[in-house]
Amino acid sequence: MKEMILIKELIKDKNVGAIVSTSKYVVKDFINKIDFEKAKVFVEYGPGKGVITKQLLNLMSEDTVLFAFETNESFINELIKINDKRLILINADAEEAKMILKNRYKIERVDYIISTIPFTFLDRKKRRRIIFRSYSLLKENGKFITYQYSLLIYHLIKERFSKSSLNATLLNVPPVFIFEGTK
Ligand SMILES: C[S@@+](CC[C@H](N)C(=O)[O-])C[C@H]1O[C@@H](n2cnc3c(N)ncnc32)[C@H](O)[C@@H]1O
Repeated sequence: MKEMILIKELIKDKNVGAIVSTSKYVVKDFINKIDFEKAKVFVEYGPGKGVITKQLLNLMSEDTVLFAFETNESFINELIKINDKRLILINADAEEAKMILKNRYKIERVDYIISTIPFTFLDRKKRRRIIFRSYSLLKENGKFITYQYSLLIYHLIKERFSKSSLNATLLNVPPVFIFEGTK
């Protein structure tokens, strides 16, 4: 029953992209890639019901901030209930993140971008725009981390980022690929 909101939203909005939340195995693999002691500014694309968002907030220090970009208004209304002053919810597209952070919050660079948006459902140009803009939003050595069910976007990460890596989370059903790009 707890996945009901995902199913309802997927019927209305194809960009939701999944009927179940990210599994605990994938969340663990994401979290293991992050250095919470050094990071001060996080960005999340597509927080959905907040599975990863809540884990990030649990591990982030008090003086760290998380900007979460979510296009689906129903999820925004759920996420508001998290009620944590370090979480800034933005009902906008991931491709606008760089411009919104600069114009609205005077933030030019961030430490980590964590993305669970379904790139497969986006057109080729938009996939490229989001990955290239993410690169320019990151600090030196900043990281873009995402997981996908296919290798579709890995060539873009390899093309743009100085370092890239790919791991499979085999315990997830079906197995997923976690991609990491380091600036
Ligand atoms: C597969 S769900 C992942 C939800 C959650 N993060 C999780 O891990 O369970 C993808 C989420 O990305 C959001 N989304 C899709 N395209 C987006 C975009 N271009 N910008 C921001 N959010 C987007 C959807 O509304 C949905 O909440």
